[in-house]
Amino acid sequence: MPSFTVYKGSKDSKIVKSQTSKPDLKDDQVLIKVTASGLCGTDQHYKGADMALGHEGAGLVEDIGPNVKDLKKGDRVGWGYEHNSCGRCEQCLTGRETYCPEREMYGMANLDQGSFASHAVWREAFVFKLPDELSDAEAAPLMCGGATVFNALYTYNIKPTDRVGVMGVGGLGHLAIQFAAKMGCDVVVFSGSDSKKEEAMKLGAKEFVAMKGKSELEVSRPVDALLVTTSANPDWKMIMPVLAPNAIIFPMTVSFDNFEIPHLAMIQQGITVQGSVVAARAVHRKMLAFAALHGIKPIIMEFPLTQDGIEDAMKTLEEGKMRYRGVLRPQ
Ligand SMILES: NC(=O)c1ccc[n+]([C@@H]2O[C@H](COP(=O)([O-])OP(=O)(O)OC[C@H]3O[C@@H](n4cnc5c(N)ncnc54)[C@H](OP(=O)(O)O)[C@@H]3O)[C@@H](O)[C@H]2O)c1
Ligand SMILES: [Zn+2]
Ligand SMILES: [Zn+2]
Repeated sequence: MPSFTVYKGSKDSKIVKSQTSKPDLKDDQVLIKVTASGLCGTDQHYKGADMALGHEGAGLVEDIGPNVKDLKKGDRVGWGYEHNSCGRCEQCLTGRETYCPEREMYGMANLDQGSFASHAVWREAFVFKLPDELSDAEAAPLMCGGATVFNALYTYNIKPTDRVGVMGVGGLGHLAIQFAAKMGCDVVVFSGSDSKKEEAMKLGAKEFVAMKGKSELEVSRPVDALLVTTSANPDWKMIMPVLAPNAIIFPMTVSFDNFEIPHLAMIQQGITVQGSVVAARAVHRKMLAFAALHGIKPIIMEFPLTQDGIEDAMKTLEEGKMRYRGVLRPQ
């Protein structure tokens, strides 16, 4: 019967160390020893909830259940936002299990375990083998951040000839720049200030727009696909004029507000607004292979996987000082 340490949120948003026990491994379950965990912007939304935190896990398979087929003890694996789905519905049968009505996702199910932990128990079917080209600490941020932005570009058929805009150079954004650039796209970055310009250009951007103090944005070429990866929603009025006709917007920010966009501009320019959450497993696998092939890696800041380390990483993220993804590592 596996028993392990988890770090939870709490009512007053303090990180609490706790213990989780699971029944003996059954079916295709695997016990994973956590070696690295990314800290995603979404974790901050759950800091005040009584649940185990973290959903960008990487680690080693420590034990396997009776029906595990492909994984063995010692394998390097990762997991992300989705832990299970029904396997029978239309969404599951068409490779879109992230929209399964019975999906088990972070914040909604399995609240007794996460990646800020010593171990976790998940189904083999929802765990990903890590490529040799990526260390555990580099792979962890791809499990949510990387998968989410790759999914937008890949699943919605963004073309190498498209101009891709990335708004917000954080965990998601700095990976989106790399994926889009390696897919051959012409990348323009929109960021709060100029401070991330040099790094964004190194990651593959061709143009950089600092938005601070501006009431109008200017670009040298209109944007065909815009990935909005800011932690708060932007002023959509400002964005409409930089979009090409028939552009697609991915508003990826987790927000509890209504989505407000200039209606007429949307109609007259034929703009698509496309909601999108993480990546289905088939796409997630392609993302890992693509990252390995093209040397796409997050830029990380490491913190100890302890109560203090998590608090410290959360504070760094909140203050806008993370460059560009926090990764927690056991001591
Ligand atoms: N849809 C999905 O499936 C999905 C998956 C994962 C995460 N998310 C959400 O995506 C968002 C980004 O996540 P992340 O992990 O990349 O977060 P992050 O690392 O904090 O990055 C967010 C970026 O937004 C900008 N920013 C910071 N404060 C801001 C503010 N007050 N107003 C506007 N922009 C601000 C900053 O970029 P600049 O300095 O360049 O301005 C910052 O680096 C979060 O809302 C997260 O919950 C969604
Ligand atoms: Zn996430
Ligand atoms: Zn289903």
